[in-house]
Amino acid sequence: MTQTVTTNEPTAQVPPAQHLIGLLLGAEEDWPTAFEQVLELVGPITTDDGVTHEVSSERLTIEPFNLRQPVRTALVIDRLAYWYYHPREWLKKAALVNGTYLLNSPFTFQSMEKHSAYCALMRLGLKVPETILVPYKNPVDNVRWAYTSAKYNQSFDLKAIANELGYPLYMKPFDGGGWRGVSKVVDEQALQRAYDQSGEMLMHLQATIDYEHFARALSIGPETMVMDFRPDQPMHNRYAVSYDFLSPKAGQQAAAISRVVNAFFGWEFNSCEMLVKGDDVYPIDYANACPDIAINSLHYYFPWAIKALVRWSVYCVVTGRTARIDLETKHYFEIADRDDLTDDEKLDAYLAIADAYLDRTNYRAWCAKHLDHLDGAVLDWVQSDAFNKILRDTVQATYPEHERDQFMAHFGGLIALWVKDEKVRLRVGVS
Ligand SMILES: Nc1ncnc2c1ncn2[C@@H]1O[C@H](COP(=O)(O)OP(=O)(O)OP(=O)(O)O)[C@@H](O)[C@H]1O
Ligand SMILES: [Mg+2]
Repeated sequence: MTQTVTTNEPTAQVPPAQHLIGLLLGAEEDWPTAFEQVLELVGPITTDDGVTHEVSSERLTIEPFNLRQPVRTALVIDRLAYWYYHPREWLKKAALVNGTYLLNSPFTFQSMEKHSAYCALMRLGLKVPETILVPYKNPVDNVRWAYTSAKYNQSFDLKAIANELGYPLYMKPFDGGGWRGVSKVVDEQALQRAYDQSGEMLMHLQATIDYEHFARALSIGPETMVMDFRPDQPMHNRYAVSYDFLSPKAGQQAAAISRVVNAFFGWEFNSCEMLVKGDDVYPIDYANACPDIAINSLHYYFPWAIKALVRWSVYCVVTGRTARIDLETKHYFEIADRDDLTDDEKLDAYLAIADAYLDRTNYRAWCAKHLDHLDGAVLDWVQSDAFNKILRDTVQATYPEHERDQFMAHFGGLIALWVKDEKVRLRVGVS
């Protein structure tokens, strides 16, 4: 079955294989421009079979579409489908009819929101805080509701449930979403007020974790960056640049849990939130399938995020990785049910399945072989006028005129810090 290929002359006649990556975007300009520029730095890739591959990208628009219509893009990075149905249904058709690889596939997140992630992580034995789902305060208007609910909805004692969880507790929608409807409830009056205001949102009550660090892990394929997140700060200041802010054990767990939940649900571009106390990691928000990667929120971590997104997309299209939309939950649960393993051993075993799903070993070896030049090229690009223009344009589009100099200096300083650290990481001359 092995094929021997000599790479000397005949390959010159073989036309390069072309791969197109589609970008399905909202209003953002910063990261797509960065993505396009970094993708150009990749250049042609010649794989072991002597075939040369060229990867390019295009910003997609969605018109009325025939369900049998071919799709030109091998992979689509989506930032729209969570909010808009027309692109979402186009993505589903592309996945089912055309085998298009999706970051992320609507099949893997549309029905899997924060609540499902809590359930899966509890089933895997992880430390999700105690959480209770209560019925709607104002059920969605429906003529049959009063009649039907009398059959399935028994009255309940909200205060007794809250007392059992203890105050303060968090009341928040079961499907999350940018702090919409989240409240910290300190007593019975606040409980009733928050519930009355929840209206047509379906709410969780959740025990409070008294945490030392809020860790946010951005995962792109098998790459994960665990960052020190400060949710109470304004957007541009939420990610602190701090190294080793978690104990080695908590840091390892935070990265492992993120990759496990991503592989478990088939999410390959996701950000996960955890509250950390000592060595204990408590997952609280694990389903952000259109994660924020704006330059003015990620700043220092932005070059890494764009590189990882380019690396993983290029790896998927050039190696012909196929999308799997079946969730193989059974394999994880078989480990969860074993009595002979400790919690740490279970996490290691989940991670082994996750890393196999994410092709981590092959991905790293492949990147070392075919994308070794990318780190140096991105380091130069981050110091170029083109990068500075992306930053300047974003600052101009986001902040009022009198704040622009301040924000250029703020983000410029953080990017300069990234350049300095990256030189150390890559061991190139540090000035
Ligand atoms: N169990 C908890 N213990 C302590 N703090 C919590 C808890 N749950 C939520 N919080 C706080 O409330 C904030 C919002 O909660 P959560 O992340 O679950 O909601 P969200 O609507 O998904 O927010 P976003 O989508 O912006 O991340 C968290 O960032 C955290 O500061
Ligand atoms: Mg959150």
